Amino acid sequence: MSKAKVRTGIVGAGFAATFHYQAALRVPGVDVEVVGVHSRTQASTDSFAQARGIQAFPDLEPLLAQIDVLHVCIPPEQHERVAIEALKRDIHPIVEKPLTGYFGDGGDNFDGREASMVEARAGALASIERMLAAEAASKARILYAENWVYAPTIQKEREILEKTKGQILWMHGEEAHSGSHAPSYGHWHLAGGGAMIGKGCHPLTAALYLKRVEGRARFGAPIRPATVTARTHALTQLPNFVDTGHIRADYVDIEDFAMTHVTFQDGTIATLFASDIVLGGVHNWLEVCAGNHRTICNLNPSNQMQTYNPVDSQFDDIYVVEKIGTKQGWAMTAPDEDFSHGFPQEIEAFYGAVAAGEGDGDGGGGEIESNSGLAADCIATIYSGYVSAANGGAEEAVTLL
Ligand SMILES: NC(=O)c1ccc[n+]([C@@H]2O[C@H](COP(=O)([O-])OP(=O)(O)OC[C@H]3O[C@@H](n4cnc5c(N)ncnc54)[C@H](O)[C@@H]3O)[C@@H](O)[C@H]2O)c1
Repeated sequence: MSKAKVRTGIVGAGFAATFHYQAALRVPGVDVEVVGVHSRTQASTDSFAQARGIQAFPDLEPLLAQIDVLHVCIPPEQHERVAIEALKRDIHPIVEKPLTGYFGDGGDNFDGREASMVEARAGALASIERMLAAEAASKARILYAENWVYAPTIQKEREILEKTKGQILWMHGEEAHSGSHAPSYGHWHLAGGGAMIGKGCHPLTAALYLKRVEGRARFGAPIRPATVTARTHALTQLPNFVDTGHIRADYVDIEDFAMTHVTFQDGTIATLFASDIVLGGVHNWLEVCAGNHRTICNLNPSNQMQTYNPVDSQFDDIYVVEKIGTKQGWAMTAPDEDFSHGFPQEIEAFYGAVAAGEGDGDGGGGEIESNSGLAADCIATIYSGYVSAANGGAEEAVTLL
């Protein structure tokens, strides 16, 4: 039987575009043709295209005319505009995290530290509503690229929940490292916030997803977030911060630490940490404390492989693990980091769904697990979290769309 053919394009030519491209090439069962790329500058578009033998598109429109799927790998502030352009043409946008957010008032002097978080939440919710309306009017679906949902550890926990009908009482987890590389990160008007959205969206979405899975398995309906209490801090901006050069410290108007405590509709809870101040490589994990079992999902690091290297330079051309500061000594070396993070699995799931014409409801069985509804709950929780943080951690209701 011949494979279904899907024509695809990429917008953006940076870090995410690189791993999306690699994952798109490896989708089994679907013949994915990467037609071309469009990025902000001609130089970045050309160099990305030339390195991969694909077409460079100086404008987005001619690329959209030739594709079924668009990988949206650009700063969060641009996600809504580009995803809606795709949806209008019945092209499925694979949108990187976070789905969208609030990026200020458009003024040159916007400073996230002084902004009203009530206005920020209203702006983010309005953005989601515009995206959901565009999706409802389109034959295409938003494919939300939250790789944690597809990480093998999280998917194994999905299986445990589905088969044992366990009740999750508390989850706690974290995404942290020593600082994001993207130039857009650090500016609220480009990233929509700091650690709580940029990193915290990952463990938060995994937690929201697993409560959906639990609800589906136990009584056929998702369990969604109800309230949130959060604290944010800008530790690297403290006047007494001792800068030793190991942690990125040039953020402009964002927090570099966030604690988000969610209460679900059934009264159970999740506590998620996100930060840019943790040394020793990425620290991505989620622990599930259910009434009938306990699971620790170590996305990265994991101790599947450990190496001891007495001389740093021996490993110059060997990838060890994301954001590790040194390759000398013991390391939790990642034999296949992309797989542990769920990158190839998410792209495979999306193309499989596009090729099969499957929907994105919450019914399980062939549905898109990381869909716009899950993404909307994540953004709604985070921006109510920002309101809470602005009020010293007072509990805030999460607006469900
Ligand atoms: N899932 C993950 O683990 C993960 C990891 C990194 C980044 N991301 C997400 O991927 C997205 C991109 O981040 P990145 O790390 O690749 O950033 P990056 O800075 O490496 O690359 C961004 C690219 O977008 C291009 N760009 C900017 N504005 C544009 C516009 N208006 N039109 C076309 N191109 C434009 C830039 O030229 C650049 O090529 C962000 O949403 C980020 O949150 C996700």
